[in-house]
Amino acid sequence: MVRGLKAGYGGKHILHGVDLDVAAGGALTIVGPNGSGKSTLLKAIVGLIPAMEGSIQLGSTMVTHSDAPARMRLGLAYVPQEANVFRNMSVYENLRLGWEFHPIRRTGLQLSSKLDEILALFPEILPHLKTSAGLLSGGQRQMVAVASAMMLEPGLLVLDEPSAGLSPRNAGLLFEIIRRIRQTGLTLLMIEQNVQLGLSVADQGLVLVMGRVRHVAPAAELAADDTLAEIFLGLDRESVQAQALDLNT
Ligand SMILES: Nc1ncnc2c1ncn2[C@@H]1O[C@H](COP(=O)(O)OP(=O)(O)OP(=O)(O)O)[C@@H](O)[C@H]1O
Ligand SMILES: [Mg+2]
Repeated sequence: MVRGLKAGYGGKHILHGVDLDVAAGGALTIVGPNGSGKSTLLKAIVGLIPAMEGSIQLGSTMVTHSDAPARMRLGLAYVPQEANVFRNMSVYENLRLGWEFHPIRRTGLQLSSKLDEILALFPEILPHLKTSAGLLSGGQRQMVAVASAMMLEPGLLVLDEPSAGLSPRNAGLLFEIIRRIRQTGLTLLMIEQNVQLGLSVADQGLVLVMGRVRHVAPAAELAADDTLAEIFLGLDRESVQAQALDLNT
């Protein structure tokens, strides 16, 4: 879906020719050190920064030069790393906004039934519908961000570090939900700094280092490869094992 992608800021390349594929209905998790260009890669895929070279394809449509709204109309929903909810709006209003932006709402589909469906996936936010999103805990807010994206019924859900800033417990809860979301059949493309957690919900893992793809492998294989984690992620064996332990508790 992405071929030879070069992108960056102010004419400077951050990505130096990236190839990336996500199978329809599959899930790919991107990992890599801070500053390696992971968020830049997602921004280029969703259309927030232009491709300087290379191509981007969503399904059968070439979108290299389409703007972000056009990509959204093709079924892409994106949850950025930061500022991913409207803090002054209630949880309900955030979800409602997702609904308002639904690109191709099925005829007859009612807001109330879509809300019921989404709240069944995210039961933790149900008691907080009237609360301002800014007053929620980090974990609850992250759930609202993902739930609002799900209101769009995306074919491709793009998540930038969903577990950032969350306690291991909240990250675990969120990833339980992501696992449930995957069963709806959508395609998932995600960055995750918690390598073990991120790879646990994916079929494929991709390691990005200094704007280049270093490694692509089945997620389970990559998760078991602690040498990779040491070299590419600057993590020592102990912290990799600690992450794995978090996952098991
Ligand atoms: N808006 C911007 N303008 C200029 N340079 C930027 C901008 N955003 C990011 N960069 C630079 O691009 C490089 C890659 O940043 P990016 O945010 O893609 O990394 P990342 O892999 O997502 O890192 P992290 O794990 O910390 O989120 C960094 O050197 C960063 O300073
Ligand atoms: Mg980032």
